[in-house]
Amino acid sequence: MPTRWGILGPGRIAHAFAEDLRLVPDAELAAVGSRSQPRAEAFAREHGFAAAYGSYEELLADTSVDAVYVASPHALHAEQVTAALEAGKHVLCEKPLTLRAADAERLFALAKDRGRLLMEGMWTACHPVILALRDGIRDNAFGAPRHLHAEMGFVADLPPEDRLLDVALGAGALLDMGVYPLTLAHLFLGEAEGLTASASLSASGYDLDIAIVGRYPGGALATMTASLSSWSAHRAELATDRGRLVLEEFFHPRTAAFTPMTDSGAGEPLTIEGRKPVLGRGFSHEAIEFQRCLAEGLLESPLVPHAQTLTILQQMDALRAQVGVHYAGD
Ligand SMILES: NC(=O)c1ccc[n+]([C@@H]2O[C@H](COP(=O)([O-])OP(=O)(O)OC[C@H]3O[C@@H](n4cnc5c(N)ncnc54)[C@H](OP(=O)(O)O)[C@@H]3O)[C@@H](O)[C@H]2O)c1
Repeated sequence: MPTRWGILGPGRIAHAFAEDLRLVPDAELAAVGSRSQPRAEAFAREHGFAAAYGSYEELLADTSVDAVYVASPHALHAEQVTAALEAGKHVLCEKPLTLRAADAERLFALAKDRGRLLMEGMWTACHPVILALRDGIRDNAFGAPRHLHAEMGFVADLPPEDRLLDVALGAGALLDMGVYPLTLAHLFLGEAEGLTASASLSASGYDLDIAIVGRYPGGALATMTASLSSWSAHRAELATDRGRLVLEEFFHPRTAAFTPMTDSGAGEPLTIEGRKPVLGRGFSHEAIEFQRCLAEGLLESPLVPHAQTLTILQQMDALRAQVGVHYAGD
């Protein structure tokens, strides 16, 4: 049975997701819903969706749509995921699922009550290269993890009303990008035992830059940064007692490298690939995982379990409280 997908909010990431969705077996591009009919039609034409609606209500009322991918600004996710679940849809929602953990708990309870699959679109947790590293670390293939450093950022040179700079829509480096280093640390090192942060705030009160230090099981440490103001690398590096794992580009990596430590210094680097080839830009894998869960009747993905989404949101709630970033409804 194909999964008939609807896209809610055809913005930047929805374009990238739609491109990758075309590579997913059994994915049917059923419909797109926008606040604007011409935008919906242009998106449908560009990516080959069958129907285009000028409102989200019409998209959710379309009985030919099984699953909705929510790609609006994060501050709107809670309301829109609620509407999609109440309309009987399964939902894949972009990260962060909500602004805060309490809202996500309500969504998970609603999804369970309605018997619908709800998954945060955390590509990182479904990506073949990241999964190969996670498994290798668990199997002690690279030695004992001691220090992870991961950074993610860019210069958000955008108009002030852009969702990346508008606090009312959930602006901030932590929720936009810090969520990835935190997820990587969670996947590689386990659940954080303590996290502390420092941030530089914008005039309107969101975090332009944030630096986080984390302590993880077994004494492993992580330093993580996210930035909306600097040309940061998208690099992650895990130092172990036997060598060094490097993801030069950890935003959708193609491969990773492990350099073993030898008596004379660095050994020959070993290229690590995923067990499956990376499809497209890397968004395909979260859609494939979502469809697998639907086919198997699962209401929760083992790769992106609700508890993991909640843990990371709780971490971000606490970090925001430390650095003084608040959103309406906190
Ligand atoms: N997984 C990833 O790698 C990744 C990367 C980037 C972003 N994201 C996530 O995806 C979500 C969307 O990010 P984006 O960069 O694609 O945002 P975007 O370009 O601003 O697009 C968001 C879309 O949401 C719709 N929307 C509905 N109400 C809106 C409002 N009040 N203001 C602005 N837009 C509104 C708009 O479409 P219509 O008006 O046409 O309905 C808009 O095009 C965010 O939660 C973000 O964290 C994920």
